[in-house]
Formats: sequence, C-alpha cells, structure tokens
Amino acid sequence: MASSASTTNHHAKMSLLNRRFAVVGLIVLLSFAVFSEAEASYGAYKVKVINEFPHDPEAYTQGLLYAENDTLFESTGLYGRSSVRKVALQNGKVETVHEMQASDFGEGLALLGESLFQLTWLKDTGFIYDRYNFSKFKKFTHHMKDGWGLATDGKVLFGSDGTSTLYKIDPKTMKVIRKQVVKFQGHEVR
Ligand SMILES: *[C@@H]1O[C@H](CO)[C@@H](O)[C@H](O)[C@H]1NC(C)=O
Ligand SMILES: *[C@@H]1O[C@H](CO)[C@@H](O)[C@H](O)[C@H]1NC(C)=O
Repeated sequence: MASSASTTNHHAKMSLLNRRFAVVGLIVLLSFAVFSEAEASYGAYKVKVINEFPHDPEAYTQGLLYAENDTLFESTGLYGRSSVRKVALQNGKVETVHEMQASDFGEGLALLGESLFQLTWLKDTGFIYDRYNFSKFKKFTHHMKDGWGLATDGKVLFGSDGTSTLYKIDPKTMKVIRKQVVKFQGHEVR
C-alpha cells in the first residue's frame, strides 16, 4: 500500500496519527496471535496501567523495548529527528543516543543477543547496532514491502510492513522464513 505514489500522502498522514499506537498494537498482537495455526482461538485483552514513567516528549517513538536493569531501548522516527536511544526507565533520561541520517525515518526495534535491529520507513534497509556502542553499526536489506514493526522471541525476528502480512525473518541472513496473512473472520487485518 505504501508503494503507490498516489497513496503516499494519505499513508503519511494516517501514519502520523496512528503510528504511535502501532508499536504497542504489534507487541500485543505478536504476543498471542501470530503464527498460530489457522482458526486458532483468540481473545480480547484489557490493559491495566500499574505505573507511569517520564519520557522525552520530543521523541517520536516508533520502536520500544525493555532490556534488563531498568533500561529501555527506543527507536524514534521523523526525517531529521530519527535516532536510536538507550533510556533509563525510572527517570526517562536518554543515556546514549545515535542520531540517524536525515534521509532515514526510524521504525521498529528489536534486541536479539548483543544486537539491536532497526527498520526504517519506506525503505527495504535497516540497521544492526552493537547494543553497547551505537557507533558500531551496519546496514541490512530485508524482503518486506516496508519497514514498520519489529519484534523477536530471542531466536528469530518478526516483522510487520503495514500490510496484513507478518514475516518471520532469519536474523543472520534477513531472509523470510515464513509469511502469515493475519485474518479476522475471513477479512485481512492491516
Ligand atoms: C545489570 O546490572 C548488573 C548489576 O549491576 C550487572 O552485573 C550486569 O552486567 C548488568 N547487565 C547489563 C546488560 O548491563
Ligand atoms: C565505539 O565504537 C567506535 C567504532 O568502532 C570506536 O571508535 C569507539 O571507541 C567505541 N566506543 C567505546 C566507548 O567503546
């Protein structure tokens, strides 16, 4: 859908409104629905807020994950403001930040072993950072239609490109191991 020039503006506007919620949505979705066999049961879950923490209001959060020791890793978007960050959970302090090139729009983020994998919007490329030193990074190419959400089970990556397809990805080669079209009552869920 994002590949058509005529829908790009619409897509961008929709994204600005909805993308903050996409990360949470993806995590919730991935945690109980994905890659189960067809017609598996589903449930509606409620969220209960048990604590709140300060957070940089200028950060346009696109990827967020919890690591050990009260540490968050965050990917922020927008052209010219995209970054990868290490953030202290308790006080929201940005402890380490890597500013990305102005042509890159940060997207989903996943921590697998010692590496942070980050997607970028409207591109088939992303970055792998050393979690202890963001200056050490390399670029990868993936085979999704776009880069949106990213998650891991500690073994492989799970990616979303804004379509109804979820992708299981080999982190060593970035090749797609499996695709799953997400449907609800016969309709594809974008
Ligand atoms: C977490 O904190 C403990 C205790 O300070 C330390 O030994 C450990 O290396 C830390 N883990 C990471 C990933 O920094
Ligand atoms: C981080 O990596 C860069 C590039 O390899 C290196 O120059 C720098 O010394 C490293 N910084 C630390 C704190 O290890």
